[in-house]
Amino acid sequence: MSESTNRKTEILHVDAASPDAASIAHAATVIRAGGLVAFPTETVYGLGANALDADAVQSIFVAKARPAHDPLIVHIASVEWLSRIAAEVPALALELAKQFWPGPLTLVLHRTDAVPDGVTAGGDTVAVRAPSHPIAQALLRAADLPIAAPSANRFGHTSPTSAHHVLDDLAGRIDLILDGGAATIGVESTVLDVTSTPPTILRHGGVPIEALRAAIGDVSERGTGSAGEAGQALASPGMLDRHYAPHTPLVLYRGEGARDLMVAIAAQMQRDGIRPCVLAFDEDGDLLEAEKIATEPLGSEDDLEGVARILYRALRAADGSGADVLLAREPIGDGIGAALRDRLRRAAETVVET
Ligand code: TXA
Ligand code: MG
Repeated sequence: MSESTNRKTEILHVDAASPDAASIAHAATVIRAGGLVAFPTETVYGLGANALDADAVQSIFVAKARPAHDPLIVHIASVEWLSRIAAEVPALALELAKQFWPGPLTLVLHRTDAVPDGVTAGGDTVAVRAPSHPIAQALLRAADLPIAAPSANRFGHTSPTSAHHVLDDLAGRIDLILDGGAATIGVESTVLDVTSTPPTILRHGGVPIEALRAAIGDVSERGTGSAGEAGQALASPGMLDRHYAPHTPLVLYRGEGARDLMVAIAAQMQRDGIRPCVLAFDEDGDLLEAEKIATEPLGSEDDLEGVARILYRALRAADGSGADVLLAREPIGDGIGAALRDRLRRAAETVVET
């Protein structure tokens, strides 16, 4: 394989419903040879390498410009593969795997010696998930290897939900992109530490806390409160204050007066010659249109799963629109709402309480 930052990036279109065997076999060969393959999962696109090859894992960090202290998620095809990388798997973890795999749930478990230090950032735990996306499943089974894969973006940037997003961030730095169309969930997996009692959510995501509690009872969310809670150890660097961020500053409004203040500020900016772009719920459309404020639609606040599907695409589009500042307001609501609030807070440069 060539140097990580000087690679020819090949793109293969693959049917998400029934992946072409020859394309998958080619991608598996690249993985087995220590190369870097971006592939779709149901959450976001991942940047994959052989999780058991320390050099291949290292090249993920180089391609993403990711700091070595941020550990990677290892992807497996099914729960039967767990013993290759995880030790002392608690019964509760097996129950969760049975209910939520394949799917958007990552479990933090004790690791085996087979897992290189680079994957775990030197720690004694490893994060594992079985993705449900047919292309991810086919690639894992063809490679017959656990695949370490963070989101396929430059470190700190908005996660990619299309092959185009991956190319924007990583062209020339990775070997292959499997283009399987848009990710269906649109935000990352829920990261749950099952080495603690009760299990602790380290990052909200595709599987809501309500579903986890229904499955196993008590689940804590220590450390996942509002971004910037001072003095808290970062159990998961995805909890960094500023992460998942656009290049253009994003101002996020929260609380009861969020909509009115956001619209008033955007209108004032416009009068002052500053170009705002509002990431807008359908429910805010009329107010924004009356002020002729540029928007990037997020869909209806009544359909947060729909919002999740397009949030990152909207963030990237607003970022590239030439606006000087992006504005958004926090959605309320359960389920995937917690993940949306978390990502918006971390994407924001400023959070305004109203
Ligand atoms: O949906 C997803 O999870 C996507 C797709 C590609 O699977 N992957 C993803 O990976 O979002 P990444 O690397 O961007 O985020 C992984 C998160 C980070 O916040 C990381 O700190 C945390 O998981 N993590 C990984 N290993 C960990 C460990 N051993 N203990 C605690 N947190 C860990
Ligand atoms: Mg990421």
